Amino acid sequence: MKQHEPLNADSPLHVVMRDIVKCFPGVRANSKVCFDVEAGEVHALLGENGAGKSTLMRQLYGLYQPDEGDIIIDGKPLQLRSPADAIRAGIGMIHQHFMLVPTLTVAQNVALGQRSSRAPLLDLTRVTARIRELSEEYGLKVDPRAYVWQLSVGEQQRVEIMKALYRGARLIILDEPTAVLTPQEVDDLFATLRRMVREGHSLVFISHKLQEVMAISDRVTVLRDGKVIGTRLTRDVTRSELVRMMVGRELGELAPRPLEPGPARLTVQGLRAMGDRGTEALRRVDLEVHAGEIVGLAGVSGNGQRELAECLAGMRRASGGRVLIGPREITFASLNQRIEAGMAYIPEERMRDGAIREFSVQENIFLHDHISPRFRRGIFLSFPRMEAHAARLVREFAVKTPGLDTPLKNLSGGNIQKLIMARELSRHPEILIAAQPTRGVDVSATGYIHERLLQQREAGTGILLISEDLDEICALSDRIAVMYEGRIIGVVRRGQATREQLGLMMAGVQQADALP
Ligand SMILES: Nc1ncnc2c1ncn2[C@@H]1O[C@H](COP(=O)(O)OP(=O)(O)OP(=O)(O)O)[C@@H](O)[C@H]1O
Ligand SMILES: [Mg+2]
Repeated sequence: MKQHEPLNADSPLHVVMRDIVKCFPGVRANSKVCFDVEAGEVHALLGENGAGKSTLMRQLYGLYQPDEGDIIIDGKPLQLRSPADAIRAGIGMIHQHFMLVPTLTVAQNVALGQRSSRAPLLDLTRVTARIRELSEEYGLKVDPRAYVWQLSVGEQQRVEIMKALYRGARLIILDEPTAVLTPQEVDDLFATLRRMVREGHSLVFISHKLQEVMAISDRVTVLRDGKVIGTRLTRDVTRSELVRMMVGRELGELAPRPLEPGPARLTVQGLRAMGDRGTEALRRVDLEVHAGEIVGLAGVSGNGQRELAECLAGMRRASGGRVLIGPREITFASLNQRIEAGMAYIPEERMRDGAIREFSVQENIFLHDHISPRFRRGIFLSFPRMEAHAARLVREFAVKTPGLDTPLKNLSGGNIQKLIMARELSRHPEILIAAQPTRGVDVSATGYIHERLLQQREAGTGILLISEDLDEICALSDRIAVMYEGRIIGVVRRGQATREQLGLMMAGVQQADALP
């Protein structure tokens, strides 16, 4: 191996964070936090949205500096002033939001920012060869010559991991790595993580999904309101203990009350649309959602669910078929016309399609609602009314924010999602399209969002719930529609199909075969 390429150092890293304090205007995000990672362990970090997990890890990666406390690596106190310092110390981080350059290839992205390399972009043959080696070693499928814009989210994540390995990271921080992945991709990621551990890497694993934490970690630390509640060996705790540590109470189960569905609120007839890669993503979708009904749309991701949601929300053009809200056709209507007709939309890509990062919390609440007469006095906007409304939503949905004028980008990932949810539900829509509404949201907020969806159903809204979480679909839906290769291949009533039968339908086995 050439000299300037960082080695995959053999000696594992031991990291101690001691009495870390980190404050932001209005929040004490970390309050005397002690956290350590032993050589070769997977240490999970759990906590509700805004508990301080990302903040703690950003300090270990040199993105923020602690106000107080020490970071000790292999026995030596170190000041990590930048990610470059952290990388030099053997630490890598895979962020909640990726940081790749879409117009460059995988190899170029991996080489980018590689300080020790004198002419990184000229050295691509060697980078490419090394990527192939690492690919092989860790079972990380990436094509070094592909452009990042061509890659799926799961593939982009593999590039981020590749980048960390290439730079010789021995401790890798994964901040909610599974939130953006399909179940199949999660399995692949876990296989890679297990190989990394066998090769002597240590991992910090952040996730809201308890079964993942139980499956992959050796120890788990729970944060609440910036403080450590406890650190335990994973094999010594149960899921409900972890929930109690996170939330400070037990969470109840919920079940939808039987309701007689009303008239059709959403009608989709023979809907067709093209996908991003020039193939037909929707091939005649037929679907109805009635008032007071939740229809769950299940399916392996990539079978047209996203395109269907975008088509219904007016963000993708239909190439055939019709969409109606009540009796009104909206196939080619604008987003605002759809909102007027009674539609609300919780997009899957909330940061891209649902919010503006630079705007304040309050501005984001009124992103589409400035037209509503509720917030007007004559021809003027009523600022006190707007402020009261915003304050109420923030309170009701327990959105953790220092204030209404805080820029959205300063909120934690899950709190941004809660805010969008609050905004969309507060419109009392006729029809709600909810795409992955609880992805990246903590357990108590998930419970809360589920409760609100059921309340909305009782109030007569028709809800199309698009989710990759079968548990969520099975718990909430009156009917479950399964999507496969751009079509609905079957619809079953609640309780009529087992998870296994749904799984078969998701794999393309027709309803008639799946249900004897
Ligand atoms: N750059 C920043 N400026 C101001 N406040 C911030 C900043 N980053 C984080 N915060 C605040 O610090 C607190 C902790 O946020 P953090 O992102 O660490 O939470 P988290 O545990 O990662 O939550 P999530 O599960 O939602 O990702 C939150 O109240 C957040 O609003
Ligand atoms: Mg976070």
